[in-house]
Amino acid sequence: MSANRRQTLGVIFGGRSVEHDVSVVTGHQIMNACDPARYDIIPLYIDRDGRWFTGEPLRDLKSFEKDIPALPGVQNVVLSPDVRQHGLIINPLPTGLFAKSQSLRLDAVFPAVHGSHGEDGTLQGLFELTDIPYAGCGVMASAVANDKWICKQVLQQNGIPVVEGLLVHRRDWENDPDAIVTKILNAFNFPVFIKPDTLGSSIGIGRAEDEKLLRVYIDVATQLDRRVIIEKAITDCVEINCAVLGDNRTVRASVLEQPVSWEQFLTYEEKYLRGGEGMKSADRLIPAPLTPELTERIQQTACDAFKAIDGRGTARIDFLARPDEGVFYLNEINTMPGSLALYLWRETGMSAAQVIDKLLDLAREAQTEKRRSTYNYKTNLIALTASRGVKGLKGAKSARSNNSL
Ligand SMILES: Nc1ncnc2c1ncn2[C@@H]1O[C@H](COP(=O)(O)OP(=O)(O)O)[C@@H](O)[C@H]1O
Ligand SMILES: [Mg+2]
Repeated sequence: MSANRRQTLGVIFGGRSVEHDVSVVTGHQIMNACDPARYDIIPLYIDRDGRWFTGEPLRDLKSFEKDIPALPGVQNVVLSPDVRQHGLIINPLPTGLFAKSQSLRLDAVFPAVHGSHGEDGTLQGLFELTDIPYAGCGVMASAVANDKWICKQVLQQNGIPVVEGLLVHRRDWENDPDAIVTKILNAFNFPVFIKPDTLGSSIGIGRAEDEKLLRVYIDVATQLDRRVIIEKAITDCVEINCAVLGDNRTVRASVLEQPVSWEQFLTYEEKYLRGGEGMKSADRLIPAPLTPELTERIQQTACDAFKAIDGRGTARIDFLARPDEGVFYLNEINTMPGSLALYLWRETGMSAAQVIDKLLDLAREAQTEKRRSTYNYKTNLIALTASRGVKGLKGAKSARSNNSL
């Protein structure tokens, strides 16, 4: 790809996720931060039902107050998993006499979807099939980070401090809630946190001071997820977030932020609805008022955690800390953070455009590295099986002939 040719970049936002709205804002922040001299932006919007759309009107946030499918200039689109397309099929099912579909090659894709069906490895899986370079973490790191329980296990294995917790399956809760409550009361004192295992943006999160609230919050969380985490509440703590940028060889940490919460914990409202520009406008202290020593330990732990999940691209890593005691726990890893944590990199001296360029460089490097592995292993197995007949078929045939199947 010649350096001065503008790259065709698909930016994907929205999604079949409870964090749909947050993603629409993040997607627009990313599209607006891309250097127009370098990128030809193709907006790719996935609505709450999982339908894909493209078209210039999707670059305007006001369009999301209207009926998107009916908007002039908006078309259905699919990202083809077939490597020959290396991109999009626009208007895949043309209706009308003269209507036709068309292909559009993409040089890279930038996912800005938070949570389910976007930050959890599923969208990344599609990108791997398309063989198009994509920004952000790969399939495994996305899936591990998005699953709070599995992430806790991996971090513990790597000696990273996490909050004690236990896992509740929806089915077990429905079958015998009393047994589950007993298990929790034997493990923890109140207060405890109740969290859907794979969601985000504080949706479905509860803080229970007593058994009655515990049961209510588990009921809520099991409506949103089949697995729920119960965690000891870390009291008298502050939240400290650190963004990272890089891959499993070199990772760089941002300055630290301390989000300010007036409630019992950082709610969706506090994260997104205060300033009206998503995560970018939440109340926070930057840099977080910590000693240089504690700052460095948290930054180092963030980098270690990113490497432990084989992270690539970026993530915002959130901690719960007791600065006076010099104690902290890694709470969660967001591989597609709100507003891409661009505000943290700005404070670290990197512009939004520079962060985006870096993420796409990392995406291309990852693809080059991937292409060093061969996925081709030729054998005569098919010919052999063809000559011998597929096992089990014979049995089925004779079974079918005497109607025993
Ligand atoms: N164990 C805990 N102790 C104290 N506060 C917590 C704990 N777990 C979560 N919180 C609070 O709840 C908020 C949301 O929890 P988090 O695990 O980050 O879920 P989400 O993925 O929805 O952001 C955190 O930002 C923090 O304010
Ligand atoms: Mg969080």
